Amino acid sequence: MAELADKVIVVTGGGSGIGRETALAMAAEGARLVIADLVEDSATAVAGEIAAAGGAALGLRCDVTRSDDVEQMFDEVIAHYGRVDCAFNNAGIEGRFARTVEYSDSDWAQTIAVNLTGVFYCLRREIQEMLKNPSGGSIVNTASITGLVGWRGAPAYSASKHAVVGLTRTAALENARYRIRVNAVCPGVVETPMGERIFAEAPGAKERLVARHPQGRLAQTSEVANAVLWLCSDRSSFTTGHALTVDGGFVAQ
Ligand SMILES: NC(=O)c1ccc[n+]([C@@H]2O[C@H](COP(=O)([O-])OP(=O)(O)OC[C@H]3O[C@@H](n4cnc5c(N)ncnc54)[C@H](O)[C@@H]3O)[C@@H](O)[C@H]2O)c1
Repeated sequence: MAELADKVIVVTGGGSGIGRETALAMAAEGARLVIADLVEDSATAVAGEIAAAGGAALGLRCDVTRSDDVEQMFDEVIAHYGRVDCAFNNAGIEGRFARTVEYSDSDWAQTIAVNLTGVFYCLRREIQEMLKNPSGGSIVNTASITGLVGWRGAPAYSASKHAVVGLTRTAALENARYRIRVNAVCPGVVETPMGERIFAEAPGAKERLVARHPQGRLAQTSEVANAVLWLCSDRSSFTTGHALTVDGGFVAQ
């Protein structure tokens, strides 16, 4: 029996990197996917990959920083599939790298809008939909190791990810009695297009980041996908409000 047979799962930021890999893995486990991304072509391309492999997927454009976009996206999901069983609130940006002392208003606002407010808009509607379903649901938010420890040069990113962990715990407590589980995944540095942009910030950045991970390497997208799959599946039925690291030991240091 496939692990996620027939579950309807919404993945934001599903057009690239961690979101794409996780969506493909979920579809391989029998889930019916919604790929939501700011970049419509990426969303429809990943939905096309799933369909070509015999799965079911809908690719939709959605800017998670816009409440009306998020509401419209979920209206389309409900019209198409009738319910939402799981969600992976994963869309995010790294934002500009600069120290707190010189961080601009606009850089701050943009990163918080995508990484925190975007998760909130999606989470709120997901809970509303799951409350209609007696079997509840499972929600996973993408935080980061920078949601658990500080990160020099990334004040807005680190603040947004710490806030995602707090929002995750709060929503988990509020909905535990309704069979709705809410967890966060906290990856170390992952080899994705975002990872490549981070490596390009300074010569030798990649090597320094590798050295900071106790396992001596970076995360693969498949390793994050496996953790998210577990959190979405019924195998994690008594896990809620948890911030699960996938970091090769980074925050254990
Ligand atoms: N790559 C890493 O090292 C790393 C580490 C820890 C956590 N994360 C987090 O993982 C998540 C995915 O990152 P990734 O590495 O796969 O990055 P990525 O850049 O490869 O993918 C991010 C996706 O989010 C989409 N997106 C950006 N803004 C959006 C918006 N406003 N609305 C909808 N979609 C939007 C992008 O179009 C893109 O498809 C992010 O939340 C990121 O912060 C990444």
